[in-house]
Amino acid sequence: MSTPSSLPEHIAIIMDGNGRWAKERGLPRRDGHRAGAESVREAVEACKELGVSYLTLYAFSSENWRRPKTEIDALMLLLDRFLVDKLDELDRQNVRLHTIGQIDRLPPKNQKRLAGAKAKTANNTGVNLILALSYGAREELTEATRLIAEKVKTGELAPGEINTETLSQHLHTAAFPDPDLLIRTSGELRLSNFLLWQLSYAEIVVTKRYWPDFKKADLLAAIEEYSRRHRRFGGL
Ligand code: IPE
Ligand code: IPE
Ligand code: MG
Repeated sequence: MSTPSSLPEHIAIIMDGNGRWAKERGLPRRDGHRAGAESVREAVEACKELGVSYLTLYAFSSENWRRPKTEIDALMLLLDRFLVDKLDELDRQNVRLHTIGQIDRLPPKNQKRLAGAKAKTANNTGVNLILALSYGAREELTEATRLIAEKVKTGELAPGEINTETLSQHLHTAAFPDPDLLIRTSGELRLSNFLLWQLSYAEIVVTKRYWPDFKKADLLAAIEEYSRRHRRFGGL
């Protein structure tokens, strides 16, 4: 793989289109999600090879709880399988696993598996793989507001001291830099409640490809497009 000139430090991906991928093949949606898990493996591997430090994957949104129970159950089972099957490989690749989102809403089995995976990889120093699970930016911002209000109430924080940094520090992503590049697969032109604060200055690349078809070459193409962009951050 040739390395593009300017590399994003943090890539965030809205992994969309698993259902449509399956439908086109006359398969149940579950099979699309299963095929999508393979793309996750590839994306992590590509980030490792390229030297991308942070990869945030939108795996399940706050709004995805509205889906039929059978689909939610299938997704939770797949998440569990993914961690069982891939944890050793991720660990060998020096990947450190993190999560953002309302993890306490996930089934206890998933919570336990995630906690174990995070603990096992806690000392790894390679790619930081951040899984957004039961994640919604509005929920995250509301929670941050509540935490800040509590600190004001106890006198730990004065209202006049609150700045953008204060808010950043109370988000689930406090330990990570903001994403440089946002990729959304399957063509939809919306954020779907993903990292609303953190994506303020991200470069956006949308591809028509469904997530199960999104392979290393597609990631590289997105990074190449990113490297051609001129980021101005409001300046000249
Ligand atoms: C993305 O694929 C995976 C999740 C949202 C969990 P979808 O399930 O949204 O697939 P489409 O959008 O219906 O094709
Ligand atoms: C966004 O995809 C959430 C994830 C990829 C996990 P959705 O398929 O849920 O988004 P909408 O409903 O098309 O906006
Ligand atoms: Mg979708």
